[in-house]
Amino acid sequence: MKKVTAIYPGSFDPPTNGHLDLIQRGSNIFDELVVAILRNPDKDPLFSVNERRNMLEELTHDFKNVRVDTFDGLTVDYAARVKAHAVLRGIRALSDYEYELQMALMNRKLAPELETVFMMPAEQYSYVSSRLVREVAHLGGRITELVPELVERKLREKLDPAIKLQNVRKVKAGKR
Ligand code: PNS
Repeated sequence: MKKVTAIYPGSFDPPTNGHLDLIQRGSNIFDELVVAILRNPDKDPLFSVNERRNMLEELTHDFKNVRVDTFDGLTVDYAARVKAHAVLRGIRALSDYEYELQMALMNRKLAPELETVFMMPAEQYSYVSSRLVREVAHLGGRITELVPELVERKLREKLDPAIKLQNVRKVKAGKR
């Protein structure tokens, strides 16, 4: 029987519980799921591509049919390179639909054989986005339950100047 591979492309800056929920759902229906982080030089990301990759690898460690990769250029070209049959994207609310529909149709124009599959994350994550998580974390708000514990810790390390300074000192002292 044909093995169905899907890619789940995105920025993942940072990965949220909504992303993880979708990865879990995707891994249940596809034989192989590749979480593909866009290396986008135009954006000024909070986490480097490597930091995001490391976080996602740790978070998806238990899903045996999920792997993490990075890409640049067109999503459809990347999909062809890894021989994917589908692109997985999450739709949280109606507001996501217009952009996602536009992207899916453009991707279909570029690569008619590639299907886009939309899945809905659990309703408790329907308002969670990486952008809002970054903003709330920046301003000192609580992001527990919105992101995995690992991401919460990394965000705190990144945004808390005192912790940042401690880490720099540890690196200098060769403790990390
Ligand atoms: O997590 P995001 O930022 O919503 O993901 C957007 C992403 C990475 C899926 C989209 O920007 C993308 O596919 N970029 C790659 C360039 C490309 O293929 N552009 C045409 C899309 S129709």
